[in-house]
Amino acid sequence: MTPAWKPFLKETLIGEADLQARIKELGVQLSADYQGEDLLLLCILKGGIMFLTDLMRSLTVPHEVDFLAVSSYGREVRDSTGVVRIVKDLDEPIDGRHVLIVEDIIDTGHTLDYITRNLATRNPASLKICTLLDKTERREVEIPVDYTGFVIPDKFVFGYGLDLDEKFRELPFIGVVNPGMIVD
Ligand code: IMP
Ligand code: MG
Repeated sequence: MTPAWKPFLKETLIGEADLQARIKELGVQLSADYQGEDLLLLCILKGGIMFLTDLMRSLTVPHEVDFLAVSSYGREVRDSTGVVRIVKDLDEPIDGRHVLIVEDIIDTGHTLDYITRNLATRNPASLKICTLLDKTERREVEIPVDYTGFVIPDKFVFGYGLDLDEKFRELPFIGVVNPGMIVD
């Protein structure tokens, strides 16, 4: 049987082995940088979940996790409205903590701009950003990204946490959407 995602896939952009290898590298780098620190991984739901869990397994330093959910796109896949809203806040305060935001993808930057401004008011000891994917050419607001998995071209992608109308987050690779299959 043809898997349901097959018709939506134009091409694989980043295969499973390349994703895993890069995440291991990030884990080594982060483990060195956060040695001896009280590290809190702050995952942005829902897209960041796969990246978070693999990144956790590649870290050799103790860390805690918390989750933040924002809505910016609704169920639209094409354009960011620039309007961001917290739909699920953190469980715990972050004052004095070394916070690392774990995000799936930075596109226009509006989402992370809002999140970092909001979190900065809560007085963390440090606040850094780790994104798996970065569509740098789409940026509308400047975002200081500390750790990047891959810089990717301006194409709509899905898989490995990223959804296509809420589906296909489970795929172990990053795929480019077949433009003919994008539903407005
Ligand atoms: P930004 O606010 O424009 O930077 O958008 C960031 C959010 O848009 C991400 O957290 C994703 O949820 C979503 N997004 C942006 N580009 C893509 C994509 O190519 N595929 C799936 N989601 C995307
Ligand atoms: Mg999304």
